[in-house]
Amino acid sequence: GDVAVVVPAAGAGVRLGPGAPKALRLLDGEPLLVHAVRRAAAAPSVRMIVVAAPPSEVEAVHALLAPVAPVTVVAGGAERQDSVAAALAAVPGDIGIVLVHDAARCLAPADLFERVAATVRDGAGAVIPALPVVDTIKEVDASGRVLGTVDRSVLRAVQTPQGFSAPLLRAAHAAAADSHTDDAGAVEKLGHHVVCVPGSDFALKITRPIDLAVATHLLTLPPP
Ligand code: C5P
Repeated sequence: GDVAVVVPAAGAGVRLGPGAPKALRLLDGEPLLVHAVRRAAAAPSVRMIVVAAPPSEVEAVHALLAPVAPVTVVAGGAERQDSVAAALAAVPGDIGIVLVHDAARCLAPADLFERVAATVRDGAGAVIPALPVVDTIKEVDASGRVLGTVDRSVLRAVQTPQGFSAPLLRAAHAAAADSHTDDAGAVEKLGHHVVCVPGSDFALKITRPIDLAVATHLLTLPPP
């Protein structure tokens, strides 16, 4: 394999309600992070997985994941991008492709990792899985008054794993001064092209309690 997967899993996950760090919440009896790492490790191109865990949980996360797949666990940071940077620092220089994958998208299938990695291998510097937006999207002001309707045909909902040539991702992180919620955003700011590949309904992000209910049902379906 020529791919490292970096997994930011150090977030608190307050939107899910009170409890453990989000990546350690249970889905069908197992932490989200275990589901995510199992699928990443099943992708044939993946040589290495680096997880950024809450600083107090590094040892526990390593113990949790060791039976699932060989992993390196580092302490995450205050913001998601700090956690990604910490994990990226543990990826050796001879690995050419880095995929960044949120632990919260724990049902992203191995196929999706392969599709993103293959597109980077074919020469794209930055690749994101994306789906069409199904809802009508309105722009509103602070009081909730509608300012306009956005043309959704030009919009995409973006998922992870996001794939990068390793030098481009390192450069984007080094240059990113202000905060960004996805790594492709940092690459865009460098002026580089980012290309979309088809995303997966299974790569939904577990954010709110209803997402856990949906994911529980997805686990009963045949894998995509
Ligand atoms: O909170 P949100 O769903 O946007 O978090 C996305 C991912 O980033 C999650 O997997 C979370 O664990 C991770 N994260 C992190 N370090 C932070 C904040 C979020 O690794 N400081």
